[in-house]
Amino acid sequence: MDVDRCIQTRRSVRKYLSKKISWDKLKEILDSARYAPSAGNLQNWRFIVVQDSDLKKRISQLCSDQTWINGVPVLIVVCSYDKDLKIMYREKSETFSIQNTAAAIENMLLKANSLSIDSCWVGSYNEDRIKSILKIPNEVRMDAIITFGYGAEKEEMPKRIDLRNIVFYEEWGDSGKPKSY
Ligand SMILES: Cc1cc2nc3c(=O)[nH]c(=O)nc-3n(C[C@H](O)[C@H](O)[C@H](O)COP(=O)(O)O)c2cc1C
Repeated sequence: MDVDRCIQTRRSVRKYLSKKISWDKLKEILDSARYAPSAGNLQNWRFIVVQDSDLKKRISQLCSDQTWINGVPVLIVVCSYDKDLKIMYREKSETFSIQNTAAAIENMLLKANSLSIDSCWVGSYNEDRIKSILKIPNEVRMDAIITFGYGAEKEEMPKRIDLRNIVFYEEWGDSGKPKSY
């Protein structure tokens, strides 16, 4: 799949078939995360693969009751361990840490799409309670839950804001065409 098609056809999918994802494919998705850029190349991301039905049920209840999560074949809980980032980047460390894991997540979403596996980034959850269930240490932050599986239906693309409304030239607010174009 070419890169434009992979980016444009990725959708957040919330209805999945019960069909399992093979370990080889899951490993390819996880491996794609390692190639994301990270501040100082510190690679502070960590991933917990959750496939156990009871755990998925408990987690879905702690995601603002998004019960659809319960029926997803695989969850990847994305965490960040920021010890080295804090030493190197001090007050910027949290921002960098979140940006690092976001880059890793996008790699996984795109890799999954290239393998015809659907996904959804979930950000609404009770961090403290899920951390406790998954035995995540205090010093580790939970950044996201990503669902992976084979979608039961094709989602429509939610509307995208036109490029000319989000790009400025030379200074904030100037939407005019750059003179060099
Ligand atoms: C930080 C973040 C948090 C999100 N949290 C949720 C969530 O809790 N539940 C959900 O169903 N979708 C969630 N989404 C998915 C968005 O709703 C989705 O990306 C957006 O509607 C655009 O649709 P698309 O991904 O199909 O392009 C989240 C996405 C991001 C980036």
